Parts: sequence; structure tokens; C-alpha cells
Amino acid sequence: MGTLLAIESSCDETSAAVLTDGQVISNVISSQLEHSKYGGVIPELASRLHQQKVVLVVREALEQSGISPADLDAVAFTRGPGLMGALLVGTCFAKAYALGLGIPLIEVNHMQAHVLANFISPQPPTFPFLCLTVSGGHTQIVLVRGPLGMEVVGESIDDAAGEAFDKAAKIMELGYPGGPKIDRLAQQGDPKRFSFPKPNIPGLNFSFSGLKTSLLYFLRDQLKQDENFLQEQMPDICASFQHRIVTYLLGRFEEAAKKFDVRELAIAGGVSANSELRAAFQKMCEKNGWRAHIPKFEFCTDNAAMIGMAAHFKFLAGEFTDQTVTPFARERFL
Ligand code: KG4
Ligand code: ZN
Repeated sequence: MGTLLAIESSCDETSAAVLTDGQVISNVISSQLEHSKYGGVIPELASRLHQQKVVLVVREALEQSGISPADLDAVAFTRGPGLMGALLVGTCFAKAYALGLGIPLIEVNHMQAHVLANFISPQPPTFPFLCLTVSGGHTQIVLVRGPLGMEVVGESIDDAAGEAFDKAAKIMELGYPGGPKIDRLAQQGDPKRFSFPKPNIPGLNFSFSGLKTSLLYFLRDQLKQDENFLQEQMPDICASFQHRIVTYLLGRFEEAAKKFDVRELAIAGGVSANSELRAAFQKMCEKNGWRAHIPKFEFCTDNAAMIGMAAHFKFLAGEFTDQTVTPFARERFL
């Protein structure tokens, strides 16, 4: 039993949430739209914006929850992976806040938290289950034996799935972040119109860098013949490119589920907000008689509620962090 304040600052979302006994009471997210004009996240700008926003976002989360700082039992924060400067802002804030209140600190692994976002639900998964975590920085198939016992059984050897969406959007000059833009345009397009090659990587791993290159060459060749090709065919290009990513991801995920003989599957991370992925994942699970778990839309992309949910399990296990803690930018988890 406990009331936790959670802070997320690993990339371009400044977020704070309050949870009581694993129930989300408030979840405030301030997205740094300032990066869009640069076509990607600028790390130094992200750190500065976190500095400007963290106090306001925490104050707002506490106000919305109706809980006073004196009633908090612990402060949770994202330790990594992420951008070092951005992580430092959340980490330093959490350390100071916990020290001032005389309460413990709980460090959270961002990728573990994406998986545990599936527990912000009236019908959470039961263990063991398999989770496909697809974000801007990672693509992983995770075997989840318990809330704190996870094993990566497959992952991308180069770009992440979200990165493939973002880089494709950049090539097509759609702006950043590209995933939601491609998703929206794809809804009016024909996913079978163009065919992009399926990456050929053995086992349960993924590769996405070739896909981006194939789009680049495809557009270069088409534009030589018709300079209006991109403008006129944009919905079909987006639908076909997205379809390739979704079928590739789910094909591997289905293989993994059969290999590990699990009955429950979940998706997580920013790309799990994708409408085609959500629908196709449901369908795949129905076909195989598996239970499907998909976080609510606002818990797919970066948010502090998922950090709080991961911290809730650590709080129950008595896993606290001391004041000497520093962030980590890259680390395979567990
Ligand atoms: O989990 P997240 O918010 O941040 C990281 O931890 O990386 O994921 C961000 C990624 C971006 O690459 C963004 O383009 C992608 O998630 N994304 C989507 C959609 N919404 C966000 N990709 C495809 N379709 C979407 N609807
Ligand atoms: Zn994330």
C-alpha cells in the first residue's frame, strides 16, 4: 500500500503521475513540440525544456490528484535508457524531492515500464506473457515471467520500428514524429499497392535499416518517371510501407509466441499506438485463441503513469534506490 509520485524525462515528454496502490490518480504529459521544426529530437533542447517544465508538470500532477506532498510514500523516476541530459533532469529532481520529503527513491527502467503499462487496466495480463515493445529507440520481444522478471528474447539489430516510421516520414517530408503522420495518411491508402522487401534476419531478431533504404530508392526511381509521384500517391505509399512494418513485426511475434508456448500477448511502446498494428494484433490473437493486451492510447507513448506502475511493483518488493544513483543512457535491461 503506498502513494507514489512518478517522473518521466527520458526523451521529449516531461511527465509526472500520482498512483495509489497501483491505481493511476493523475498523469500529466507535456510534449516538447519545439523539436518538430528540426525534424527530430535535439538532445540539448530536450534537457532545457525538461528543466523549464518539470516543476510545473509535477505541481499539476499533484494538484489534479488532490494528494499533498506530505502524503507521498516514495518518488519514482526513469533512470534509463534515454538521452543523458534529459534523464539527469528527472533524476536530479526526484532525488532532491525525495530527500526534501525524507521518503525513498525508486529507479525505473523505461523499457520495463512500457511493458508494465499493460497493468494500467481493469484486466491486466497474467504471467507468463510475451510483450512486443516497439518505440522510437527499441524493438524487443520480451518474455515476462513476473513484474520484475523480464528477458529480451528478440530485438532489432539496427534501427527501431519507430525510427523506421520517423525516417520514412523524413524522406517524404512529413515532419516529426513520423509514426502518427504515416498512420493517419495510411488510413486512406491501399496497403497492397506497393511491395517493400521483408528484411531477412534469422531467429527472433529484427532489422529495419534496409526498409528505410528501400523506400528511398523506390521513391528516387519513381520520381525520375513522374515528379508528382510522391504527392499523388502518398496515402498508398504510407499504407504499403506501414503494412510491411506491421506484418513483419507480427509475423515474428507470432513465431515467438508459438516457440515459448504462451497464451497471453501484449504490445507496448509508442508504435503500439499505430491503428493497423492494434487491429492486426487483435486479429492474430483471436485466430490463435490468445488473450491480447493493448495499453490505452495515452499509456503507449512516453508517460509517467507507466513509470509509476513499474515503481508500484518495486515498492511492493521493497526495492529502493539510494541517493548516489546516476542515470544510464544505454543498457540492456535485466
Ligand atoms: O515510446 P515512445 O513515445 O518513445 C520512446 O521511448 O522512443 O515512442 C515514440 C515512437 C516514435 O518513433 C513515433 O513515431 C512512434 O513512437 N509512434 C507511432 C505512432 N505514434 C507514435 N508509430 C506508428 N504509428 C503511430 N500511431
Ligand atoms: Zn518510450
